[in-house]
Amino acid sequence: MLNVSGIRKKFGNTEVLKGIDLKIAAGEILVIVGPSGGGKTTLLRCINTLEHCDNGSIEIDGKYICKDGKYADKKAMSEIRKDIGLVFQSFNLFPHMSVLENIIEAPQRVLGLSKNQAIKKAEEILGFLGLGDKKNNYPFELSGGQKQRVAIGRALALEPKIMCFDEPTSALDPGLTGEVANLIKSLSNTGMGMLIITHDMDFAKNVSTRIVSMKEGKIQEGLIFEE
Ligand SMILES: Nc1ncnc2c1ncn2[C@@H]1O[C@H](COP(=O)(O)OP(=O)(O)OP(=O)(O)O)[C@@H](O)[C@H]1O
Ligand SMILES: [Mg+2]
Repeated sequence: MLNVSGIRKKFGNTEVLKGIDLKIAAGEILVIVGPSGGGKTTLLRCINTLEHCDNGSIEIDGKYICKDGKYADKKAMSEIRKDIGLVFQSFNLFPHMSVLENIIEAPQRVLGLSKNQAIKKAEEILGFLGLGDKKNNYPFELSGGQKQRVAIGRALALEPKIMCFDEPTSALDPGLTGEVANLIKSLSNTGMGMLIITHDMDFAKNVSTRIVSMKEGKIQEGLIFEE
C-alpha cells in the first residue's frame, strides 16, 4: 500500500532523514516511536507531500509520488495525494465552520462531489464516529476527543488508502486514548493502512500491528531505543 525507500531530507546543512525505508500493507497499523527531534513529523510531512524530500522514492498503491528524488507532475501528484489522509496533532479544524461544513469541504473541492453527495457521505461518517448529533456544532463547542474524531472524519471523507496520524492522543484525556485506538483498529479492518506517530507507549502497544523506532533520522525495527 505504502512503499517508502531511501528517502533523505536536509534542512540547511542538517540531514533530518538519512535514508528511510518503510512499508505498510493494507490493514496494517504501523507505529513509529522515538525521541523528540528524530525526524518523525518530517517523515510524515514528506509522505503527505507537505515537504519535498531530496532523494529516494515514495509509492502509494503502486503509484509514485516521487521516484529517486524526482517528483510526479502536479496533476499526477494531486491524484495520488487523495489516497493519503493526515490527521494533525492540533486537529486544524476550520473554526468558523460547523462540524458538517468541516467535513464536506474537501470532498467537494478535491473529489468533485456535489454538496448533497458530500452531505450524505459526511452524515454516514459522523454516524460511524458517534457524532451524528454534533453536525451543526462549531469546533469550539466540542470536547478534545470530539474534535479529534471530527478531524479523523474530515480525513476519512476523502476515502484514503493510507491514514497518517501525528501524535493522535497527545491532546486527549488518558481515558480517551482507548477510544482512539479502537477507532483506528476498526478503520484498519476495512483494509486502510495506518501510520501513527506517538510518544505514548501504552497506546503504541495497544493499537499497533508493528512498531518501529526512529532516531536521528534513521529507522529500526522494534522498540530498540529508550524513550
Ligand atoms: N521546516 C524546518 N526547517 C528547519 N528545520 C526543521 C524544519 N522542520 C523540522 N526541522 C528540524 O528537523 C528535526 C526533526 O524534526 P521533527 O519535527 O521531524 O522531529 P520529531 O521526531 O517529529 O520530534 P517530536 O517528537 O518532538 O515531534 C528537528 O531538529 C527540527 O528542528
Ligand atoms: Mg513530531
